[in-house]
Amino acid sequence: MEAPQRNLALDLVRVTEAAALASARWLGKGDKNGGDQAAVDAMRLSFNSVDIAGKVIIGEGEKDEAPMLYNGEKLGTGKGPEVDVAVDPVEGTNLLAFGRPNAISVVGVAPSGAMYDPGPSYYMKKLVVPAEARDVVDINAPVEDNLKKAAKALGKDVDDLVVFVLDKPRHKNLIQEIRQAGARIQLHTDGDVAGALMAVDPLSDVDIMVGTGGTPEGVLAACAIKAVGGQILAQLDPQKEHEKKALLELGYDLKQIFTVDTLIKSEDVFFAATGISGGTFLKGVRYTGDGAVTHSLVIRGKTGTVRRLESFHKWEKLMRISAVKYD
Ligand code: FBP
Repeated sequence: MEAPQRNLALDLVRVTEAAALASARWLGKGDKNGGDQAAVDAMRLSFNSVDIAGKVIIGEGEKDEAPMLYNGEKLGTGKGPEVDVAVDPVEGTNLLAFGRPNAISVVGVAPSGAMYDPGPSYYMKKLVVPAEARDVVDINAPVEDNLKKAAKALGKDVDDLVVFVLDKPRHKNLIQEIRQAGARIQLHTDGDVAGALMAVDPLSDVDIMVGTGGTPEGVLAACAIKAVGGQILAQLDPQKEHEKKALLELGYDLKQIFTVDTLIKSEDVFFAATGISGGTFLKGVRYTGDGAVTHSLVIRGKTGTVRRLESFHKWEKLMRISAVKYD
């Protein structure tokens, strides 16, 4: 038996709320970097009040030279536990810029050394299923086989399933194969962290997520999947010759299959996400004139507790002490 310990995710949710509150002002403005910069600045400031000695393993922005919390950056007061940090201040920068659903702010934390470091890998093939199907799928099997096996494990028919897929040219054949197998599909332009989280959330309409997306996003999603149960199978999937070359030169194995347990090697993982633009995953920031309302997920791996948090922020008091101008 252990005495209850600190739930770091309850600190982290203040970080994702700060990023969401700052960046949601950019909804639909068509300025991808403006929203991202606002989120990065608010997230960095808020993170540095948390008692951890954090090191960013999964930063953001390198892929498209966006403003970023860079890999290797130290976060936190330096006083608490040594932890690996994964951040995405705005996951779905285009979703935010064009006012589309499911832009979220996301953070994951695990003990130092527990988080997979993808180095120069930008893209990863992913297959995410709920806990019931975690041992029946195979990332290299035809998608039809995986759908049949997952449906059986979930007690459903294949045509009951909803599969989340990023709507990208690289998925043309994949989408065709899913349709031929008879499953239903949600096509999203961006945001496969939300897709992965919906696949492992029993309350969502999505059953499975499949396809190639960002590698950092895969590790971030794995933080939550590790905590709530479910499986993410993944394989590095470089989309350009220079990405492949960099990985091979550094000795990365392109055939290696990752699981949730190899992406995150500890149960002691924490995760928080706050909705920015709203949508099917988390409600977005609603500004009320004198404040704002945010919706978040707060997850602790050791207990598996998932909290859904609705927060009411009041400018009158907050703006007296906040260095970030939210109002
Ligand atoms: P950003 O927030 O960095 O723009 O990422 C959005 C996203 O859609 C991710 O959810 C996904 O993993 C990745 O981009 C896919 O990359 P690409 O758009 O280059 O195919």
